[in-house]
Amino acid sequence: MRTSQPKTIYLSEYRVPDFLVDHVDLRFELFEEGARVHSTMTMRRNPEASGSGEQLELNGDSLTLESVHLDGRALQAGEYEDRGEWLVVPSVPDAFELKVVTWIEPQNNTRLEGLYKSSGMFCTQCEAEGFRCITYFPDRPDVMARYRTRIEADKAAYPILLSNGNDVDRGDLDGGRHYVTWEDPFPKPSYLFALVAGDLVEQRDSFTTLSGRDIDLRIYIEPRNAEKTDHAMDSLKRAMRWDEEVYGREYDLDIFMIVAVDDFNMGAMENKGLNIFNSSCVLARPESETDMAFQRIESIVAHEYFHNWSGNRVTCRDWFQLSLKEGFTVFRDSQFSADMGSPTVNRIENATLLRTAQFAEDGGPMAHPVRPASYMEISNFYTLTIYEKGAEVVRMIHTLLGPELFRQGSDLYFQRHDGEAVTTDDFVKAMEDASAKDLGQFRLWYEQAGTPELVVEDDYDKAEQVYRLTIRQSIPDTPGQTDKKPQHIPFAVGLLDTEGNDIPLTLAGESGSGEPTRVLELTEREHVFEFTGVGSRPVPSLLRNFSAPVRVNYPWNRDQLMFLMSHDSDGFNRWDAGQRLAVDVIHEVSGHAETEVDPRLINASRTLLDDRDADQALVAKMLQLPSEAYLIELAEQADVQTIHHARERVLKALATALRDDLMACYQRQQPAESYQVTPEDVASRSLRNMALAWLLHIGDEEARDLALAQFQSATNMTDQSGALRALVNSPFEEERSRALDAFYQQWHRDPQVVEQWFSIQASSPVSGDLAAVRRLLEHEAFDWKNPNKIRHVVGAFAGQNLVHFHDQDGSGYQFLADTIRRLDDSNPQIAARLTAPLTRWRKFAHVYSEGMRKALESVRDKDGLSRDVYEIVHKSLA
Ligand code: ARG
Ligand code: ZN
Repeated sequence: MRTSQPKTIYLSEYRVPDFLVDHVDLRFELFEEGARVHSTMTMRRNPEASGSGEQLELNGDSLTLESVHLDGRALQAGEYEDRGEWLVVPSVPDAFELKVVTWIEPQNNTRLEGLYKSSGMFCTQCEAEGFRCITYFPDRPDVMARYRTRIEADKAAYPILLSNGNDVDRGDLDGGRHYVTWEDPFPKPSYLFALVAGDLVEQRDSFTTLSGRDIDLRIYIEPRNAEKTDHAMDSLKRAMRWDEEVYGREYDLDIFMIVAVDDFNMGAMENKGLNIFNSSCVLARPESETDMAFQRIESIVAHEYFHNWSGNRVTCRDWFQLSLKEGFTVFRDSQFSADMGSPTVNRIENATLLRTAQFAEDGGPMAHPVRPASYMEISNFYTLTIYEKGAEVVRMIHTLLGPELFRQGSDLYFQRHDGEAVTTDDFVKAMEDASAKDLGQFRLWYEQAGTPELVVEDDYDKAEQVYRLTIRQSIPDTPGQTDKKPQHIPFAVGLLDTEGNDIPLTLAGESGSGEPTRVLELTEREHVFEFTGVGSRPVPSLLRNFSAPVRVNYPWNRDQLMFLMSHDSDGFNRWDAGQRLAVDVIHEVSGHAETEVDPRLINASRTLLDDRDADQALVAKMLQLPSEAYLIELAEQADVQTIHHARERVLKALATALRDDLMACYQRQQPAESYQVTPEDVASRSLRNMALAWLLHIGDEEARDLALAQFQSATNMTDQSGALRALVNSPFEEERSRALDAFYQQWHRDPQVVEQWFSIQASSPVSGDLAAVRRLLEHEAFDWKNPNKIRHVVGAFAGQNLVHFHDQDGSGYQFLADTIRRLDDSNPQIAARLTAPLTRWRKFAHVYSEGMRKALESVRDKDGLSRDVYEIVHKSLA
């Protein structure tokens, strides 16, 4: 906890470390009342350092220092200085061995950074700066060392003792204790260190690499979760094969381990050879987890595995380079997911997340470039911009280079920088060197924050058969950045003729007939492209497959949008046209109770619903109305209640008009014999549950009976919770509360299902008002120490239940502020995450923004605010 203003750290002030660590020998003595950590570091002066630092400075946080030895000699008071956040040894030789003994209390560690306890087991989270909560160390990613780790603990309570690398020694100790020693042959930064000790069961499998090496795969879980590891194990093996085939990357240790823990601040962590996962991101079986969970697990298991190369073998020089590993790895995991499932649906999901949440971040007070220039607390920069926009930036390089040259670039990157800590610029340079493509201007994507906006105009010259596109780009100002330079944007376009076919694209000056899709490279503020040989006025299909993370502004009329919906050869743009049409219709009825819902939207939806030949995965996506969050993002000054009611009116009009079609769709999508997570089956369940939800939303009694029957008889959680959610968001109060009670009775022993039960209620626009949410906080299953529970109640309310969170009396805001104040002392990372919904107060109409600002001020005025929350609140109010 701090009292003064936290310091800002600047990229421009980066200096190489004064000292390097070649080897670390760690010995952990784990006890119930604490842990003693013996660290012996083999260190030397960095030959590349400027020499300014005579003294040795090590990071530390919440440590009790017991002793310091330099080259075997105990240092006396005065020979070192314990400054709390730093351990300073004023005088050291050029090469030496430093031994530090510290005492820590994992059992009291509620921040879940460093070494802590989660349902009885010891575990760690060191990224970004958690290792300094374990021992004094140069805790920065450009200090890479070899680790040897000995763990000692009570043998009965902690039979399993894990760390990175290979286990090289084990044995028994006095007093019923035992030890295991691990050695990691690969030098790594401290943020990749991990330790686990617990009473766990192990699920084993193996994988043979392309070069014929056998890898031992192990997933460690609490015994009650023994049935939930198959999906993660299969996903892991698919990811390992995929990375060999697509990137030529093999696994490099003999063992790969995954551990599931219940209390975890984030999703998962790629520690070398020992990935640690939030239970909800790794454990699943069909009866208790939904399709969404299965898909999330596949992509996160792959993501963490892919980090072994993009992150671990080649790591980040400093935390400003975080997107070097995260952007690239998200890009890799999304390529993988696309290959495993439906590429179009995958792209729609990426774009939805980006356009809804990342664009919002880019337009708010925390906007920052993919490579930030400064921060106060690095934990606040694990953002959609670093991860998702960073992945889009890598995707654009892939688009500009094409798959072959991109692969040559990634090969060069891994080969050139293996074992190094590097920068995003090194990544771009490798891509440039391998392809000979000039990415000079492209680098602005890493430096400039904000979402570029493209304004597109067109005209058609019948006599000349020329179609002209004029494209202007601009990037809005963001905190600390104005007057931005134009960026290098790959802009994929197609033109549809009157039949709906792609016109082969030929630009003026070219000969022959060209491709159906062209990637135009925008580099100037304004471009004019002339397409020749265009026989009739086309309908433009712009930014195909979402080729860049930008907004596109072009005045399609509703008939053109319907035309694109049914004819565009680009699946993403068929979906996007539908979204634009729905947005347009919602806007039209917004605040106008007498305006009818355009029958064209209803007809287009009916066509989709009744079309059995169409790709059902795409149909399921196309039928979803744009979310409230997206509509807010599109607004200048969002009026949440008006947006909610307009969207409700359109939804109800659709459900009412399509009642029989929905019923037929429901009946048609019968559950498959056995549960599988194929795109077809997922789409079928999604359509079936959407039909049910829409019908219950308008109070259809026949649908209510179907929902009750489905709730009872479902053999998978997607269908059971789909029925529950539909009932909860229906006007049938009695059925709703009976189903909720029955569900809890059935599942109360499974915390992951209880999380779902919480979030279905907390996010319900029908029944999840603030009073209901407060009751959930009093429920026996709620636990303030468990981040998942907080996310599924408070996070779900503030992030998804917009009509109740934005109650105009400001009670939702004050509730969130009180929650943040409460959590700030125990878990600052979670407190800071929860602050996000308030930070965008300027985006909302006055009736909302005043209350949001006041809530932020009440957080700001708390004594001893953590650095995490301080940074967000102060930047938001600035
Ligand atoms: N590197 C992890 C991942 O990619 C995330 C770790 C985040 N940790 C944190 N303290 N913010 O999934
Ligand atoms: Zn990651």
